[in-house]
Amino acid sequence: MCGIIGIASNKPVSINIINSLKKLEYRGYDSAGLATLDNNLIDEKKCSGRVDELEKILFKNPSNGNIGIGHVRWATHGAPNIINAHPHSSEEVSVVHNGIIENSDELKKDLEAQGFKFKSQTDTEVITVLVTQFLKNSKPLISVFKTLKKLKGSFALGIIFKNFSNIIIGARRGSPLAVGYSKEENYLGSDSYALKSMTNKISYLDDGELCILDKDNVEFYDVNQKKINKKIHTVSDDENISDKGDYKNFMSKEIFEQPATIKKCLNEYTDSLKKDINIYNFPIDPKKVNKIVLIGCGTAYHSCLVAKYWFEELTSLDVDIDIASEFRYRNLKFNSSNLYIFVSQSGETADTAAALDICKKNKVKTCSIVNVVESTIARNCDWVLPIHAGPEIGVASTKAFLGQLIVLYILALKLAITREDIDKKDYNNNIKSLQKLPEAIKNTLKLESEIQLMAKEFLDAKGSMFLGRGNSFPVALEGALKLKELSYLHAEGYPAGEMKHGPLALIEEGLPVIVIAPNDRYYEKTLSNTQEVIARGGKIFFITDNKKRLLSTNIRFRLRVPRVDNLLSPLLLTIPLQLLAYHVALLKNCDIDKPRNLAKSVTVE
Ligand code: M6R
Repeated sequence: MCGIIGIASNKPVSINIINSLKKLEYRGYDSAGLATLDNNLIDEKKCSGRVDELEKILFKNPSNGNIGIGHVRWATHGAPNIINAHPHSSEEVSVVHNGIIENSDELKKDLEAQGFKFKSQTDTEVITVLVTQFLKNSKPLISVFKTLKKLKGSFALGIIFKNFSNIIIGARRGSPLAVGYSKEENYLGSDSYALKSMTNKISYLDDGELCILDKDNVEFYDVNQKKINKKIHTVSDDENISDKGDYKNFMSKEIFEQPATIKKCLNEYTDSLKKDINIYNFPIDPKKVNKIVLIGCGTAYHSCLVAKYWFEELTSLDVDIDIASEFRYRNLKFNSSNLYIFVSQSGETADTAAALDICKKNKVKTCSIVNVVESTIARNCDWVLPIHAGPEIGVASTKAFLGQLIVLYILALKLAITREDIDKKDYNNNIKSLQKLPEAIKNTLKLESEIQLMAKEFLDAKGSMFLGRGNSFPVALEGALKLKELSYLHAEGYPAGEMKHGPLALIEEGLPVIVIAPNDRYYEKTLSNTQEVIARGGKIFFITDNKKRLLSTNIRFRLRVPRVDNLLSPLLLTIPLQLLAYHVALLKNCDIDKPRNLAKSVTVE
């Protein structure tokens, strides 16, 4: 997963390429580069590390071309260094690529046998060599088509040509690609967000499509090389997202935005006057739905896990959940009365998008719960339920998780009432409970100073465990994921009742164990599991909404979040875990918004 940008203009483009690359850094940040055409020469500049480095290089040695491409990389083939950074250029062409060329080794071997030498370890360089070769006998468009025929795998490409100095060619298979339009300037980008400061008029390439753009025109072609027209969308003007305000980083801003984003989402979906939920146009008659299948990756998968408990509790529906990278390769029996729900913040996660494609091939009904409504997953689903969280920039997902939970809960409630699984009184009470959340979240955030103290206890830890039961088990998984992702400290999330089947062996004197124990039907059981950990020397951090201090000795820290309806407690219990991971990472001087080895949008398999 990488980010690509291309600009054809009547003025120098390098500054705008840099600005767009900064927005695309959420897709990869281990190296960056750009190439412009200047005086009929390809002017390529690259660096390892961040776009800021590339900007410094340009400051000393500007690029003046009116047409150019840029790239931010998340390494797949070859180490994250300057040689492997994109673009990959020959004398004739320069290429930026997002995706993976699965047959690159094979192609490389063939080309090497013909005498070609490769400079990098990347899969991308074969594209550069192939296009250059085909250009000897063909025009750019045909050369690119011939090249694409040889490629297996996924790609979004941007290509410029030394001898055709007014055009950029873009092509898509698997990885997303958008085209933007402006006066005497046209653009190519991995997403509309990268282009937003320049235009809000966007078209999206579908799989197999290709485009040629110059400063005045854009032409599109389908996989059969036939000219096609594309719809132009006007992208909504979101709030100013590039501004961290007074916050140290985007993650803390996003954690503290949660009361507001949840309020916004509730306003979108609930009608407090009519005490109803505004969800209509189900792709399947709710009474005829047989089963709900929830699919996602990482944090989005955790929201599916929480939702499983909700669907089971509120409705008579069967529920399956799956990690998208597993779902896509299983031998599944598809059923047209199942509703397949894809949960994704970015809407671009490759595994989730591939799982969706499989559902589409099997002609079953699909729904997406996404943050980015212009995303591939949103566009490809029969039904979209946006989470309205606003752009999430920090790689660690926070407000999007809560947003996904709210929409899943609301959907479960609406299905429950429409299928007559719950009565109107319970339905109304549940909606009332939802309305209390923004205030409860605000009050939970007030625990930050206590959590800061807690975080210090993790500095010398060799590992940690997060335990919960019922719908607190996925909260434990999410807490562990946040801590390892941000602070690089090993963390395991476990159902508390499962400890005695193996993981208890890990407990030793002083090991931090975070117990998530709301006052629900599992509370007493969780207390017993906690005792078992205490008896073996575990250092307990107890997070609850129970006022009674049933366990007081041998608890290192005790945090109490506000009490809400039991079903909704995961939303509040997650917040201290987000803050804990954040503060441990801060104390360890980790890069909060861009943890090592990761990217915000995982667009490769
Ligand atoms: O954009 P998505 O929600 O599809 O992303 C899925 C995961 O990659 C994502 O949630 C990841 O696990 C986060 N970095 C966790 O904080």
